[in-house]
Amino acid sequence: MNRQEYNFSFEVYNSSQELNDQDAALVQKARDTTKNAYAPYSHFDVGAVAQLVNGEIVSGTNQENASYPVGICAERVLLSAAASLFPNVAVHTIAISYHNNNGQSNHPISPCGICRQTLSEYEERTKHPIRLILSGMEGKVFIISSASQLLPLSFGGEDLK
Ligand code: THU
Repeated sequence: MNRQEYNFSFEVYNSSQELNDQDAALVQKARDTTKNAYAPYSHFDVGAVAQLVNGEIVSGTNQENASYPVGICAERVLLSAAASLFPNVAVHTIAISYHNNNGQSNHPISPCGICRQTLSEYEERTKHPIRLILSGMEGKVFIISSASQLLPLSFGGEDLK
């Protein structure tokens, strides 16, 4: 037997004011785009904004449905849009923010399990890490250097060979 270890570290900022100008601007876009969420059931508006390696900006918001499981998270709406508008262009950074109409929006949220899987495959298909900037409308900001760090021992296309 030997024990394998998985190390994960991320950056923690006390507020978006500590970020560099480029990251702060992307966070502001993610916060602004929460207004475009369609979340009449959860009232939890999520915005995700990507900066692609070619400099293009692509946005996504959560899109819910009366048939609840049909709803799609902001991150997957964003990646589907990016892949459709700019096929084969890697994503450099995604800022994810939210506005919780039922409560506070003052701490970072991180992507759900399905979105982690989707992000991981996007990294794989574009051969490029996706940097994540996670925040609420205020409060701490987390920066994760590669989305796939959130999904250790992941299942992927290589496993199907
Ligand atoms: N949601 C996202 O869009 N992204 C996340 O990272 C977490 C959750 C959405 C799904 C649903 O529309 C609402 O937030 C509440 O779960």
